[in-house]
Amino acid sequence: EKGGFDHFMLKEISEQPLVVQETIGQRVFFENEFEPYKEELPKDIVRGISRICFVACGTSYHAALIGKFLMEYLADMPCEVDYSSEFRYRNAAVNNSVLTIAISQSGETADTLAAMREAKKRGSYVLAITNRLGSTANREADFSILTRAGLEIGVAATKTFTSQLVTLYILALYMGSCKRSISKKILDETLSYLLEVPKRLEEYFPKFLNDIEKSAKIYSGYKNMIFMGRGINYPVALEGALKLKEISYIHAEGYPAGEMKHGPIALLDPTTPVLAIATRSAVTYEKVLSNIEEAKSRRSRVVALISEGDKDAVNLVNDILYVPDVPEIVSPIYNVVPLQLFAYYAAVWLSRDPDKPRNLAKSVTVE
Ligand code: F6R
Repeated sequence: EKGGFDHFMLKEISEQPLVVQETIGQRVFFENEFEPYKEELPKDIVRGISRICFVACGTSYHAALIGKFLMEYLADMPCEVDYSSEFRYRNAAVNNSVLTIAISQSGETADTLAAMREAKKRGSYVLAITNRLGSTANREADFSILTRAGLEIGVAATKTFTSQLVTLYILALYMGSCKRSISKKILDETLSYLLEVPKRLEEYFPKFLNDIEKSAKIYSGYKNMIFMGRGINYPVALEGALKLKEISYIHAEGYPAGEMKHGPIALLDPTTPVLAIATRSAVTYEKVLSNIEEAKSRRSRVVALISEGDKDAVNLVNDILYVPDVPEIVSPIYNVVPLQLFAYYAAVWLSRDPDKPRNLAKSVTVE
């Protein structure tokens, strides 16, 4: 059932090219109007909305943080993101001009269901993005979009995260089109980037798997690790750190790289290495390079995600995880894959079962 893989997690990580393909499906091909989710979320509803409030937990929360960037950039839509467990206990100002988007792969996370109910009580429309048809979130929401990841058995979310991301790209493009706040150029361009993902990801695995496994061996020897990224890749740093801590039990924290100097940099020394997301297309690329230099001068070992063909970042770091050189807007889909693999191999090197991390359950149905 593991299809020749040692663990479900590795199998599910490897399925991501297909999952992206399935999630895009036929939805993005259009003749006149771009309306991929017109059945799930009617256009007049979108037109009546002036703000989005995302609620989610864990990995789905990280997808929501990326969703915020996409909604702002592609749909010019004001957006906020809350942990479900925080949203439900505060006086969240949502009403019928707000679309609350709950992201939950299982559709059964107790805190997210409670946040959805709270949002509804306050008069907000609720859209659920889940991977499970018939789940509670799917049934209770006013509107519902299904991701197409297939069943995920590994406790750590991997392919469901990628399918959430792809859904959020398409949703942001759809909302931008409904509101006429996106140009035809950006719409076509972003779609063409998305359509390239399955093939480029497919090529990625055979090329780089061994390098990632080797780096993971080195870093599995440390007790602490800092992940840093900026902009749309800041949530990817958070997700990389979450994956590493939950399956390898190495303490890891993600930071927006610009925040390092406001406190966390005090942690850096030879016992605390840094993983930096330093892909070339980012508007903050130069800034990340100087963040790496700061870490090096504290004698931290640095491993970085670096774009193929890069000539600058490569000279600064100890270890390199290459990723395809892609436009910044789609880079999270590519960048999360080596981080999932890095966590996976670190767990395996430490003889920890990545499919069944201690203290964790696949669906968190308690509050
Ligand atoms: C991390 C992980 C958890 C879930 C979180 C939310 O790998 O799997 O952090 O993302 O429990 O679960 P869902 O998406 O089912 O609401």
